[in-house]
Amino acid sequence: MITDAGCRMFGFAIVIGIIGISRGATNTDADVLDVYPSSSGDGINVIWAHGVNSVAALNDSLSDKAVMMLEADVILREGSFIPVMAHSPAVDSNLTLEEWLLRTVVADKGMKIDFRLIGALDPAMDVLVEMDKDLHAPLWINADIVSGPNYPLPPVDPVRFLETTVRRFPRSVLSLGWTTWWVPDGCVVTQSNRYTWKMMLDMVQLCCSLQQPITFPVRAVWAHTSYDKWLWLTQLRPDFTLTVWHGARDPINITGLVSLRRHGDPRRIFYDFPVGLKQQFLDALEEGNVSPGAGGLPYTWNATYWQVIPAESSQIFMTDMNVVLAGAGPDWALLSYGGPLDRAARVTGRAQFISNRLPGNPGDEVERSYVAVTMVVGNRTLVVGFNDKGFVEIRTEGAGGEATVVASRQDVALTSDCISFEVAIAGKQVTATSTVVHCRDSAGDPANADASASVTSRLGGDAVAKRGGDAVAKRGGDAVAKLSVRKADAWHDVLIEDLTISRSAAGSFLPVPVITYVLIVVIGGGSAA
Ligand SMILES: *[C@@H]1O[C@H](CO)[C@@H](O)[C@H](O)[C@H]1NC(C)=O
Ligand SMILES: *[C@@H]1O[C@H](CO)[C@@H](O)[C@H](O)[C@H]1NC(C)=O
Ligand SMILES: *[C@@H]1O[C@H](CO)[C@@H](O)[C@H](O)[C@H]1NC(C)=O
Ligand SMILES: *[C@@H]1O[C@H](CO)[C@@H](O)[C@H](O)[C@H]1NC(C)=O
Ligand SMILES: *[C@@H]1O[C@H](CO)[C@@H](O)[C@H](O)[C@H]1NC(C)=O
Repeated sequence: MITDAGCRMFGFAIVIGIIGISRGATNTDADVLDVYPSSSGDGINVIWAHGVNSVAALNDSLSDKAVMMLEADVILREGSFIPVMAHSPAVDSNLTLEEWLLRTVVADKGMKIDFRLIGALDPAMDVLVEMDKDLHAPLWINADIVSGPNYPLPPVDPVRFLETTVRRFPRSVLSLGWTTWWVPDGCVVTQSNRYTWKMMLDMVQLCCSLQQPITFPVRAVWAHTSYDKWLWLTQLRPDFTLTVWHGARDPINITGLVSLRRHGDPRRIFYDFPVGLKQQFLDALEEGNVSPGAGGLPYTWNATYWQVIPAESSQIFMTDMNVVLAGAGPDWALLSYGGPLDRAARVTGRAQFISNRLPGNPGDEVERSYVAVTMVVGNRTLVVGFNDKGFVEIRTEGAGGEATVVASRQDVALTSDCISFEVAIAGKQVTATSTVVHCRDSAGDPANADASASVTSRLGGDAVAKRGGDAVAKRGGDAVAKLSVRKADAWHDVLIEDLTISRSAAGSFLPVPVITYVLIVVIGGGSAA
């Protein structure tokens, strides 16, 4: 059983060239500053001062006892290497970072310093390192390091940002955001008007193995539509938190905010709201029930049963909601199933094929992945495979590993990012079905939604036990199932959701198939190879 947090990363060194193999569940490093000042309470009542970039603003927020967190922006004074507090388009300020810190560190207020240009980071680190022993309140270092919804410009260089902050000032709290732009409905959008799984993976692949506590800034306007992503993030690691912020001109959907709080872990959701919005939110929280956000609840995956057996370059992100299999190399990883299995006869799930942004990605024209459910029936291995191009096949493999394709079908009209798959054994028949489904991620339905491809094959006589007798139950008792992952390339990740392994319904399966072993294989699709 997996006892660790769901966030496992292996071979991280390859990804961004710094430390980190896998980490423990809890951040026990006593030197790491807490994320918020202790006065922050339930996360709703954190009071922020924003844009504290001038002496006057600093004076005001320091003398205001209610203010708990100070937010300010760091740039380099034009033509120099002196970090000063200013927000572009300003190019200078008469308040340097050093002065700002000297005055703030004695005030016991949390600090968030924001970098929009990577050039200011190293000089700012010189200042922080110098003041290290005086810094006691939480210090956040913030940048938008991953491309998010609708934003056309590149984010702050994530590799440089993380490498520099972690190496030079490891005690910081990392505030790692996505670039975002709110586009009102009806305007032309460049991307989907929501956060996507790809954006989540781009982020967690960068930061999951870091030792620092991490807070993710979440734009309130998408609290609802991307609701499942926020729950997922907070499940990955106990010291991942969300800081929900509001864009001044964004529409407000209080229901969406209430929904996120009701269904998420309130201890790990913080709010950076103007006073009026905060009051509206508090009032709405007093009221009754709210429905789950887009993406829905519950997910039927039960992570309790699965244990990760990683491969060197694989990354497995497992929560109570789903498992994401990612990675940069052609390795195998395994999820080993430890639940009840003896008479399992149906395996179902959903797969979302996610093309990532690693360099050299040949794009969507290549086959993205191959998902295979492997079951040992009698002494024969049955492999049932699916891909994103409408391909379904059933193979058997003998003891020597020799494979025979017994049924297959290809229907490119079924090409889809998201499929549901089902493998069902009834009597001596096995049926494999792949159905195009709506991605929980996207706004619209695919044109071919609900189209499906199915193949059926008879199992060979010796592949099925004559009866589901004692031997079956006995073997079933310590049955092991495995979900294994092979990525043939670096560019395609797979999200598996709603994975269920169920027993045959009474009477419908004769004889009871002996299945001692279930293996789900996700194979990263090769390019043309
Ligand atoms: C800010 O506070 C300092 C120290 O209390 C004081 O010397 C300075 O005049 C104040 N400046 C402004 C602009 O309020
Ligand atoms: C800092 O700059 C502001 C405006 O940019 C100005 O009003 C203020 O007098 C300056 N303070 C000092 C100490 O130079
Ligand atoms: C606000 O969120 C709720 C669900 O929480 C949703 O049903 C509703 O459509 C949203 N309203 C707007 C204006 O987006
Ligand atoms: C998962 O299964 C375990 C063991 O049967 C059970 O105790 C637990 O409640 C289940 N979790 C969920 C989320 O269903
Ligand atoms: C598997 O089945 C074949 C054919 O019935 C049989 O000859 C063989 O002994 C079986 N192998 C095992 C390991 O049970």
